[in-house]
Formats: sequence, structure tokens, C-alpha cells
Amino acid sequence: MMEQNIKEEIMAVGLPEHIAIIMDGNGRWAEKRGLDRVYGHKQGVDTVKSIVEACGEIGLKYLTLYTFSIENWNRPKAEVNALMGLMTDAIVRETAELMRQGVRVKVIGNTKDLPSDVWGKLNELIEKTAPNTGVTLVLALSYGARWEIVEAVRKLMADCEQGKVNRSDEVTEEMFARYLSTAGIPDPDLLIRTSGECRLSNFLLWQCAYTEFYFIDKFWPDFEKDDLYLAIRNFQRRERRFGMTGQQIKMRSDDGDNAILG
Ligand code: IPE
Ligand code: IPE
Ligand code: MG
Repeated sequence: MMEQNIKEEIMAVGLPEHIAIIMDGNGRWAEKRGLDRVYGHKQGVDTVKSIVEACGEIGLKYLTLYTFSIENWNRPKAEVNALMGLMTDAIVRETAELMRQGVRVKVIGNTKDLPSDVWGKLNELIEKTAPNTGVTLVLALSYGARWEIVEAVRKLMADCEQGKVNRSDEVTEEMFARYLSTAGIPDPDLLIRTSGECRLSNFLLWQCAYTEFYFIDKFWPDFEKDDLYLAIRNFQRRERRFGMTGQQIKMRSDDGDNAILG
């Protein structure tokens, strides 16, 4: 019941264009039940399905999910392998449903470190869903923001060496952003982290310069569609000022310019 009401309520107001989520707490969810951490990750896959579906239902344009960080490679081998296996299974099992929902999948991160079978399946999914026009689902996989920024500098320097960039004043924020793995994707308006932790853990450092943060004290497997809608409603009630005064923002929105949503 609640779902319907709050869904209608948030859809009547301007939605964020891009939501990024740090899906945290799978391991603790399982440990609390005396289960192996892998059960938490399995359960987490079901949450991903329901949240992707929820985003499609409200017409969200971009959803980025922090799926596996560069630092996560340091976890015990058995957990890393289980995560890779779960991912491959989920891709194979869910491709038809993602196609039905019109989801377009993209991946950001150091994908060359992924096992070749995982990357192979992912690549098929990316290619197959490329023409879709529904939610763009960005999976951050083997992703680290500092890795991404250093990688961008490397590409930029390579372009200098090849004479494609000649002068330092050609480097602007917009130009630099095109070297990031998120090129072409708008910055997240709202970032959600589950599990009660209040940190970025090397996620989208550049892109979150003006993102609104929302931390929820629930483990990822317990996160429901309603929690997403509540996060969006909370976001809609905020005033994004981008360095300006509240009065300036009000004047802009009175002029019909929707400055609150950026
Ligand atoms: C998030 O849950 C999933 C990944 C990082 C892959 P965790 O596995 O970090 O769960 P906690 O934080 O240990 O509970
Ligand atoms: C961040 O979660 C990475 C993902 C959710 C994929 P972690 O659980 O790895 O983050 P830290 O290490 O506790 O900061
Ligand atoms: Mg964690």
C-alpha cells in the first residue's frame, strides 16, 4: 500500500536523473543469521533485481551500482570467487528480463582484471542491451575512483604525446571528465549507501562533487523499493545550492528554471 502512495508522490515531483548506490552490508546480513557471507551476496542479487525494476517503474534514467571495488580484490579468495560466480550466473539468468525491461547495461572499472569468462558474459550483455532506451544501469566493477582519475591522466598524457592536445589551457573540467570512465553519463544527483557506514570507499570521487548523500541503517539485502522511494522523497525536499544563496535558488526556480534538481 505504502509503495503505491509514495511512488505516486515522488513521481509527481521532478525525479533525480541519476542515482548511485553503494550496496553495502551483505556480509553482516548473513553473519547476523549465522550464515556464510556468500548467502548475503546471494540475497543481495535479489535486491539488485527489485531496485532495478523499481527504477524502471518510476522512469529513472541512470542507476549506478557499486558492485565490486578495486579494494575488494583483497578479500579472501573464496569470497572473491563466489562473487564472480554469482555475477556470471545473474547475468545469464537475467538477460532476458533486462531486455524485457529495456535496461541498457554499462560497466565502469578496471575490467581487464576480471576473469575472462565474467568479462565475456558481461560484454555480451553490454552489446545486447546497447540499443535499449530504458534505465541505463552502470555497474561499477573492479572500480576505484583514484584508479579512474589516474587512468584519465594517463590517457590525457598519451593524447599530448600524440599531439591531440597541445596546450595546458585546453584542459578544462568538461574536457577532463571526458577521459573518465563515466564520460557521457551525468553526475549522480543522489548517492545512497546502505548498512550504516558513512563513507565513499573510493567511489565516484570526481563525480560526487555536488551529489546529495543519503545513508540508511539497513543492510543491502533488507533494502526495499519503498526505501528507495523514501530516499528520493528525502532528496526532493532538499535545496541544492551549488555555492549560491537560498534566495538566488528561489529566484531561479521562480523563473521556471528547475535549479533544485540541477
Ligand atoms: C557489499 O557487502 C558487497 C560487496 C562489497 C561486494 P559487504 O560484503 O561489504 O558486506 P559487509 O559490509 O561486510 O557487511
Ligand atoms: C564498498 O563496500 C564496495 C562495494 C559496495 C562494492 P566495502 O564494504 O568494500 O567498503 P569498506 O571497505 O567497508 O569501506
Ligand atoms: Mg562492506
